[in-house]
Amino acid sequence: MKADRDWQEILNQCKNNVKTSIQPYIATIREPQPNLGIGAGGDAMKPMDLAAETAIVDTLKRYDVSFTLISEESGVRKFGTETEGCFVTVDPIDGSTNFMHGLPFYCCSIAVSNKRTLNDVYAGLVTDLAHDITYTAFEDKGAYRDGKKIQTSKNGSLEEAVIGLDLNTYKVKELIPKITPLIAKTKHIRHFGANALELSFVANGLTDAFVDIRGKLRTTDVAAGFLILKEAGGIVTTPENQVFNVELDPKKTMSFIASGNMEIHKKIINLVKAC
Ligand code: IPD
Ligand code: CA
Repeated sequence: MKADRDWQEILNQCKNNVKTSIQPYIATIREPQPNLGIGAGGDAMKPMDLAAETAIVDTLKRYDVSFTLISEESGVRKFGTETEGCFVTVDPIDGSTNFMHGLPFYCCSIAVSNKRTLNDVYAGLVTDLAHDITYTAFEDKGAYRDGKKIQTSKNGSLEEAVIGLDLNTYKVKELIPKITPLIAKTKHIRHFGANALELSFVANGLTDAFVDIRGKLRTTDVAAGFLILKEAGGIVTTPENQVFNVELDPKKTMSFIASGNMEIHKKIINLVKAC
């Protein structure tokens, strides 16, 4: 069953509790953070990642939600009695490296779906934890930044564009030839280091597109961001311009191109395809 709850209120409460849960770690940001093992997504798990995840789970429990958690940290876990109709996909802290370096660009991403698939996400929240700005979307109801409706950029010109591009990979020799034509034609390239938030920037028209063709971004990072972008009028496809739907799983990774409008999307696809 979809939206049998007031997800706006529940997600908002999750966000507030995540914010509170990470305060002690912000206060001690320069102190080394112990590793708590390897998270389900394959990265080292830090105390603030776990604190944020616990805050989300505890909030959902308080609202008496039965759900399957799909988390980058503790993996897939079931809470309550009827866990098959409600999947909550989270990256408790996206941009963990920024967080630990004191770089003010990290967020929390929470997505709700009635099936375990990306395209079935019907509620999403991405909150910029350093600036206290929240992006939300509900299926067919639009996308919002702090409650105000947002729309993607209408700019179709690469010469005018600001495009987010994730080049963060050791397989740089394979990636660079594929991405060079796009870099050569684009006026401004950026990468801030928290891809859920970068998708929200495209949704908000702050950037014109976001490209991640490394094949290593997890569904937990994008589940909420994709809905927010689509509800704001944006487009997401594979680099081959195929619409895709994948299983929500912390280990499932993908490549994609996310754009504010079709005109710029086609231009990006053609340049990436050319290689
Ligand atoms: C990371 C960020 C980063 C991207 C990495 C992701 P995390 O998420 O989104 O921008 O380059 O691939 O893993 O690990 O901080 O949650
Ligand atoms: Ca994370």
